[in-house]
Amino acid sequence: MFSITTLGFDNPFILAPLAGYSDLAFRLQCREYGAALCFSEMISCHGLHFRQKNTLDLLRTVPAERPVAMQLFGSEPDIMGEAAEIISEYPIDLIDINMGCPARKVIKKGAGCALMKEPVLAAKIIRSVVKGASVPVTVKFRSGWNHQAITACDFAKMAEDNGAAAITIHARTWSDGFSGTADWGIIRQVKQAVSIPVIGNGDITSHADGVRMMEETGCDGVMIGRAALGAPWIFSADAPENPSLAFRIAALNRHLALIAKHQPDTPPSQIKNHAGRYFKGVVGGAEIRRQIFNQTSYADLVEIISSFSRGLL
Ligand SMILES: Cc1cc2nc3c(=O)[nH]c(=O)nc-3n(C[C@H](O)[C@H](O)[C@H](O)COP(=O)(O)O)c2cc1C
Repeated sequence: MFSITTLGFDNPFILAPLAGYSDLAFRLQCREYGAALCFSEMISCHGLHFRQKNTLDLLRTVPAERPVAMQLFGSEPDIMGEAAEIISEYPIDLIDINMGCPARKVIKKGAGCALMKEPVLAAKIIRSVVKGASVPVTVKFRSGWNHQAITACDFAKMAEDNGAAAITIHARTWSDGFSGTADWGIIRQVKQAVSIPVIGNGDITSHADGVRMMEETGCDGVMIGRAALGAPWIFSADAPENPSLAFRIAALNRHLALIAKHQPDTPPSQIKNHAGRYFKGVVGGAEIRRQIFNQTSYADLVEIISSFSRGLL
């Protein structure tokens, strides 16, 4: 349905990079519900340079999840290029460069969205990553630094001119953080400015919303972040908009099984962050979440969740 260079995707729905969430098990689950492509969370080029175990763990992948994109962040062209070479040794399909993260600890080092203020350096980084990578390179960025500097169209052209195979635009500025409403009009402008595929991102809350973004902006793909957390079925056109408790528990059980199989070393806190979200907006959800957060081990979590299922019988 759309492609990035020679990589074809059977639908335009994509899981966003989500630090602390878009790990292998969650990506696999989103793929099972129909996501065409999933992005890893941002991975530090320095962590790769020093071959830190925690960083290398983020590169864990299995054939069943492909195609998969690994996202890099950093601000030094040489180290980013070296990191791209290291990632390219893994069986992955795309390398994405994070030029949109608003977090202060990332900005302070000149990475993430800070690069939108340094397009010459950003261009150098893209060229270096393209040179080091054996797979297509994409770039994810925002509308601009603030509302006085909406630079997305120029930035998109810069990315294209320096070798990006596609771009993702999150239609908010750095100064917006995650507040306010994403301005999808910027996505339309960016789409008209470049000839590489454009993935639109920001405030998609349902499958139908994703279709609407494509109709309104002409973008080639749509990326979903927050609305997929605790609701990976968002990638399926057939899933109910507000699923029953039984549906949610079944989905969570599958997620837990994928964690047990593929990343049994996941800390309980990270599993609970995922699990609690399955019950957002459900009657009695607050009590369910409280019980989930009271558990301290994977086994206890599985047990409490199966007790919820028994309660439904
Ligand atoms: C918890 C969380 C973690 C995120 N981590 C990343 C990240 O690692 N890399 C990145 O490019 N964007 C990251 N983002 C931004 C999302 O990828 C996405 O651009 C943003 O949430 C807007 O999309 P949405 O409205 O569908 O959530 C993160 C967002 C959230 C809420």
